[in-house]
Amino acid sequence: SHRLETKVMGRKIVHFETIDSTNDYAKKVALQELEGTVIISEEQTKGKGRIGRQWYSKSKEGIWMSIILKPKIVPQKAPFITLIAGASIAKALNNLGIETTIKWPNDIIINNKKIAGILTELSAEIERINYIILGIGINVKTMEFSQEISEIATSLYKEGHKISRVDIVRNILEEFEKLYIKYINEDSKEEILNICRNYSAIIGKDVYLIKGEEKELIRCLDINQEGNLVVQTKDSIIKEIISGEVSIRGV
Ligand code: BTN
Repeated sequence: SHRLETKVMGRKIVHFETIDSTNDYAKKVALQELEGTVIISEEQTKGKGRIGRQWYSKSKEGIWMSIILKPKIVPQKAPFITLIAGASIAKALNNLGIETTIKWPNDIIINNKKIAGILTELSAEIERINYIILGIGINVKTMEFSQEISEIATSLYKEGHKISRVDIVRNILEEFEKLYIKYINEDSKEEILNICRNYSAIIGKDVYLIKGEEKELIRCLDINQEGNLVVQTKDSIIKEIISGEVSIRGV
């Protein structure tokens, strides 16, 4: 079917030709909007990536969108939402015949290059969540990237996948809603973790863990029930990595 088959995600869609950042706009309206409201823009003039990076968001070249979420869960369970988003993007693209992998916690990869990223922003009290802004950026049509990112970024078109942005958005919202509702209502993580494991670009591999200026060679073992990455250090110590401010680079 070509209709959006969701109950909550995308029941309201706010569309812009241009905006600074869909995440920033979503934050401003989050308290007065219902859960599932989607903010989407053709262009972002100040698109934001993780760890203070900027996110190139040229007009009509990609999908730049944010979903307003208001889950009734404790804030400690919020990081898992990023994994749900990654799993739904990988699944949605797979539905459309595109094979991707997930670089924990939030990069979607084709041919060793990034085609999509997720930026989750949380507003919470001690016991409850006010809202979560789930920002998703997907490079769809971009053919030329700036020099600094051309070695690490790619787009669906560049990889030979000419698929409409509407089809991608619909598939993502449908896949995301299914997994999200199961997580919130039934606390069920196993299906999400299995998708993350099956699509993982790093489990079983040696990678560099990068934190500021520090760089450490580690072996990725698994993603655990908390959504943390379980790794083995050079000295054979097993430890958990919390997504926070770290990034991972191939060896
Ligand atoms: C990353 O990989 O560093 C995260 C990139 C997230 C980009 C998306 S595009 C829509 C939303 N609005 C933003 O300003 N950023 C996110």
